[in-house]
Amino acid sequence: MQQLIRGRVLDFHADPQDTDDNHRFWDDGAVLITDGIITACGDHGDLTRQGAIPAGVAEVDHRPHLIMAGFIDTHIHFPQVQVVASWGAQLLDWLNDYTFPEEARYARQGHAPVMAEAFLDLLNAHGTTTAVAFCSVHKQSADALFTAAHARNMAMVAGKVMMDRNAPPEVLDTPRQGYDDSRALIAEWHGKGRQRYAITPRFAITSSPEQLELAGQLATEHPDCHIQTHLSENRAEINFTLSLYPKARDYLDIYDTYGLLGPRTLLGHSIHLEPREIARMAETGSRAVFCPTSNLFLGSGLFDAGGLRDAGVVQGIATDIGGGTSYSMLATLAEGYKILQLQDQRLHPLAAFHWATRGNAIALGMEDRIGTLAPGSDADLVVLDPRATPAMALRMDRVETLAQELFVLQIMGDDRAIAQTYVAGRAMKATDG
Ligand code: GUN
Ligand code: ZN
Repeated sequence: MQQLIRGRVLDFHADPQDTDDNHRFWDDGAVLITDGIITACGDHGDLTRQGAIPAGVAEVDHRPHLIMAGFIDTHIHFPQVQVVASWGAQLLDWLNDYTFPEEARYARQGHAPVMAEAFLDLLNAHGTTTAVAFCSVHKQSADALFTAAHARNMAMVAGKVMMDRNAPPEVLDTPRQGYDDSRALIAEWHGKGRQRYAITPRFAITSSPEQLELAGQLATEHPDCHIQTHLSENRAEINFTLSLYPKARDYLDIYDTYGLLGPRTLLGHSIHLEPREIARMAETGSRAVFCPTSNLFLGSGLFDAGGLRDAGVVQGIATDIGGGTSYSMLATLAEGYKILQLQDQRLHPLAAFHWATRGNAIALGMEDRIGTLAPGSDADLVVLDPRATPAMALRMDRVETLAQELFVLQIMGDDRAIAQTYVAGRAMKATDG
């Protein structure tokens, strides 16, 4: 099946922070999709002259809207859809008072499949086409999410959380159960269609040394799986963690001890880091994941993107629903901009949109399949309308450059600015705004 998607097309091929030659933009652009894969991308007139566009191909014209690679969310909690906007707590109380009780509901038969559809609908409505998700401790929560994502041919990286202490019994496994369930999920889902498994020890507070040992064993047995966890989000968390692992040099050293660091490892938050930890993250290639709306909402602290970048740490950016407050990667980039402002750092709009697409794909090591419009990539696209609201339309009347237009989307945009989302070539929104 072939289709042509027309619009104003933006595609990144390098990081705007590294080079000025970082993107291509076609005011009358087109993306040719063949069986869910991008087979051509460029100026519509050029593609026509080259004979690249088959006669009679089905065509959707989104002009004047902006087409780019779909957004990638590198840290989000599937069972926290109904935790967002829980009042008045910082991390550890927020987990105990709101989050663990909510995640306990995912033990109930039939709950996770319903919530998985709602979760993926929300992601697609906000222009997100791939997510890296924490599920609950219950194996069936991960089964439900993978089943729903596979049915819509949507690339997911996900795992059931391993947690065996410091939480209510309804959300605890044991080292052996956590290992066995994770292994069974890997066998069933890792590499099935577009699904990939992330070994997911929640964080050191909720995993005993025995559990981290088995998580490390899983990682050794499945080196192409991702690993995701949390690191240095909040001062009280760090103090509690270090009291539980008194032999560790610092927080990162705990994960290091159990063989959990490397280029496939995603360390959510990574805020209050020691210089040694930053150097070790760079040395091992471990990724830091910036979660701006969550860090502000939970009062966790300010992520030092510039410092980590100077040290050579590869970084993702993510919503962290439900500590985060918006599913929108646009809103996430807006809050990221403000957090960096507070540290006298500048997030340029081109760098911001690169980060939410190709940058996050690089953080996942998946840039050969997602994050750009290069032929051979999966046809995951977002179509953006920078005039989606009256306020945005008025602001757009003063816009003269692509960078300015992107910045209006970044600062004022949300799901209303998502005109359409394509997952493997399939339109996911019922109406095309
Ligand atoms: N640390 C351990 N679990 C969580 C979680 O669910 N959300 C956040 N923000 N931090 C965590
Ligand atoms: Zn998280």
